[in-house]
Order: sequence, then structure tokens, then C-alpha cells
Amino acid sequence: MQFDVLVSGLNVVDLLVIVPNSVSKGRKHEIDNIIIQGGAPAGNGACGMSALGLKTSFLGFIGDNVQSAIARAEFSRFNVDTSLLIKDPKIVPATALVEVDSSSGERTVFYSTKGYRPLGPNDIKPEWLDRTKLLYVDGYDLEGNIELLRIAQQKGVPSILDVEAGDPSKLLKMIQLGNHVILPLEAAQTLTTRKNPIDCLKKLATETHAQLIITDGANGSWALAGDEIITQPCYEVAVVDTTGCGDAYHAAYAYALLKNYSLPKRMEFASAFAAIVATHFGGRSYFPNEEEVKIFIQNHQ
Ligand SMILES: Nc1ncnc2c1ncn2[C@@H]1O[C@H](COP(=O)(O)OP(=O)(O)OP(=O)(O)O)[C@@H](O)[C@H]1O
Ligand SMILES: [Mg+2]
Repeated sequence: MQFDVLVSGLNVVDLLVIVPNSVSKGRKHEIDNIIIQGGAPAGNGACGMSALGLKTSFLGFIGDNVQSAIARAEFSRFNVDTSLLIKDPKIVPATALVEVDSSSGERTVFYSTKGYRPLGPNDIKPEWLDRTKLLYVDGYDLEGNIELLRIAQQKGVPSILDVEAGDPSKLLKMIQLGNHVILPLEAAQTLTTRKNPIDCLKKLATETHAQLIITDGANGSWALAGDEIITQPCYEVAVVDTTGCGDAYHAAYAYALLKNYSLPKRMEFASAFAAIVATHFGGRSYFPNEEEVKIFIQNHQ
């Protein structure tokens, strides 16, 4: 089977809770919103791209346990291909508890990777990369993803990276191998020891030829195009939950890249897509289609 995008990275099951304004420790609270869904940059990215109509396949391990059943059901819900997943009964997807602040929509994440097994270099079949137009990886399953990026580079398959946190030397290796690196400001600051996004971009550009983009939540996103800085403000919306905004941004950017949009249009599209996702509870509860994103952009000119 041929795919538009092969996705590799952390596979997580999220339990999301909108935490009420006032909480009494040690007491029970009945609340309106608790959901269980798949999550994480790669998982949400795969679902977002698939919802936009890209033929997407997820790489990694899947076990024989509750979390694996949920993760698989979640991929099926979005039509993400799971035929390349490697089965190992003992493997458990990572599990996360996401607390969403009811007034700001900001989220706090607690997660565990006990029982999780990342894709390693020896698990990878190079021919996978002959079957895709694009490779999409996160910065968590480092060794396997570095190998995938190496093979993609050899085969001339473009790649998109979502790099959030991890061993800086390995993340830099990934950034050197990738083609489109989109990272939150915090990660860029850690990698460069610079503070403002423009300085971070300029410093990172000394390490890689990749297209670099930095996102910073409600402050928007910035890219370096030669010597020029492109600034994409964030769209103002009635925010419910910012979980998965970064993942949504990456997914929409990937879609726009495969549609040959220019860099500013990719950023505009990604930013609008992410803003719409922020108006819903959960990182993959609602994904707009291309038409809806375009109308949203027109209405926000
Ligand atoms: N409150 C918000 N309102 C509208 N758009 C937002 C908001 N927060 C984030 N976005 C959009 O999503 C993009 C990515 O968000 P952010 O920088 O928070 O990613 P992240 O830290 O990787 O988050 P995630 O936890 O989802 O991975 C921003 O550049 C912006 O375009
Ligand atoms: Mg992110």
C-alpha cells in the first residue's frame, strides 16, 4: 500500500479532565467533562492529517492490553492505517492524565511510559520509506526516528519534525537530518540557550538547512526564510482546551506542504487549523476540513 505520510513517535492514551475552578483536596467532585482518547504529537498528528484526507500510517509497537485496544480504536476512528504496527503483547502505550484549566483552557500533563517500547533502529524496514510521500516524526522515539530520518534523507523523502523535549544532542541530530522542523519556543530555547524566537531561529539555522518554525501558543509562530522572518499571529478564538494545538499545527502544515502551499500560507493554514482545534475539548475531538479552515481564515482577515 502507498501512503501520503508515515508517522512515527510516541503513542499515548490520554485521560482528559476539565478541572473545576474550585477543588477541595481529598473530596469527590462530579464534573461535566472527562474523556479518554489517543494523544501525543505523533498520534494526534496522524489523526489530524488523516482527518484532512491524507492517507496516513502509524509506525510503532502495539500490545494486548486496555491501552493498546484504545490506541488502536482511536486510529481506526480516524482511518489511520495500523498495518505496519509491530505486535508485542507486553507493550503498553504511554498513559497521560491531562488536566485542563476551566477558565484559561491551559493544560497540565502527567504521563508515564512504563511498559512502552519505542521503535528502535533494528525494527525499521527501509522499504517502508519507498511507500510514502512524507515522513513525520516526533522527538521522543529518538533512536528509531533518527534512523527513519537517515533513510528518508537517502531516499529523498521529505520529513517533518515535532521536537518538544529530550536529549539536546540527539534532538540536534534530528534537526540536522530533517527538512521541516517545527518546535515550541521552550524547546528552541533549551536547544539554543537564546530567549526570543528570532534569536533561537537564527542560532538553529547555523545547525541545519531545514525549514525552521517556532510556535509559542497564543503568541503565534515564526519562521526563517533566508534572512527574512515570517510572523504568523495566532487566531483569537474562544479557547476551550489547548491540548494538541501544537500537534494540530504540525498536521495542518504537513497537509499544506503536500498541497504545495507557500511557507506563509502553510503557517496561516496551520495556525487556523490549530485555533479551531482549541475551541473544542480534547486534542482530537474535532478536526476541520480544508474548506472550513479557508472560510475561517477569510472570516478572520
Ligand atoms: N490559545 C490559543 N489560541 C489560538 N491558537 C493557539 C492557541 N494556543 C496555540 N495555538 C496555535 O497552535 C500553535 C502551536 O501551539 P503551541 O506553541 O502551544 O504548541 P505546543 O507547545 O507544541 O503544544 P502541544 O502541547 O499541543 O504539543 C500556535 O503557534 C498557535 O498557532
Ligand atoms: Mg507540541
